[in-house]
Amino acid sequence: MLVLGGGSDIGLATARAFVARRARTVILAARRPEALDGAVADLRRVGADHVEAVHFDADDIGSHEAFARDVFSRHGDIDLVLVAFGVLGDQTVSEENPETAAAVLTTNFVGAASIGLHVAGHLRRQGHGVLAVLSSVAGERARRANFVYGSSKAGLDAFYSGLGDSLVGSGVSVLVVRPGFVKSKMTAGLDPVPLSTTPDKVAEVIVAAVESGAEQAWAPPPLRLVMTAVRHLPRPLFRRLPV
Ligand SMILES: NC(=O)c1ccc[n+]([C@@H]2O[C@H](COP(=O)([O-])OP(=O)(O)OC[C@H]3O[C@@H](n4cnc5c(N)ncnc54)[C@H](OP(=O)(O)O)[C@@H]3O)[C@@H](O)[C@H]2O)c1
Repeated sequence: MLVLGGGSDIGLATARAFVARRARTVILAARRPEALDGAVADLRRVGADHVEAVHFDADDIGSHEAFARDVFSRHGDIDLVLVAFGVLGDQTVSEENPETAAAVLTTNFVGAASIGLHVAGHLRRQGHGVLAVLSSVAGERARRANFVYGSSKAGLDAFYSGLGDSLVGSGVSVLVVRPGFVKSKMTAGLDPVPLSTTPDKVAEVIVAAVESGAEQAWAPPPLRLVMTAVRHLPRPLFRRLPV
């Protein structure tokens, strides 16, 4: 499997979960692969035969074509690609400095769209595989408190949903995963909200979704119902939600 954003807590928990089942090769693609020695050793310890960390920067759009070509040519068929990179950003700073907002949108939406298309092309040629992406419930309805991040995930979510439709019949499927609040590096220092979860629990959801061929999943699963209600709340009421 290939994890884009190889240092992601959710990405690494998911890699561990798949190694515990059947994955034998894991490629961790990250901005600082040299920082992933511990993660590489850990995945070997739990049973992976081959683990490597390679350089990948979601913001460096011009590098994506060569990156994807190199990974697929060196490793042959890849059963699962997980798009796990992303930045939360700082909403207040973003509103004061549009360049900061644009950087969040570039990483979470433009970068994910670009590498998603390159990877999808390789998966389509090999004729099988799952392309999973970490969206967020924040993208289902952008809130005042984090609409920069929320809109980046809304764009990513729509893009990958459409990409999934474009791949129907190719043997390749796209899985859009929508976690709620996950206790990870990204949320360190923030107060957990109701239905908060952990990277290991999100990994369990992803494994189950891949194994069942699902095209979307929520983590934890009850968020699916909660978000159905939240999406339809009248705006004045939605604005008053505490979380
Ligand atoms: N935590 C949550 O509550 C939550 C909820 C819903 C969805 N998600 C989504 O789940 C995904 C994983 O998040 P996480 O919780 O596992 O957080 P995390 O541990 O902070 O992982 C995010 C990863 O993205 C990488 N990254 C950021 N910008 C990058 C770039 N330009 N190129 C390559 N890699 C880049 C970071 O790498 P560096 O180490 O180089 O910074 C980091 O390893 C993200 O897309 C996030 O938006 C998280």
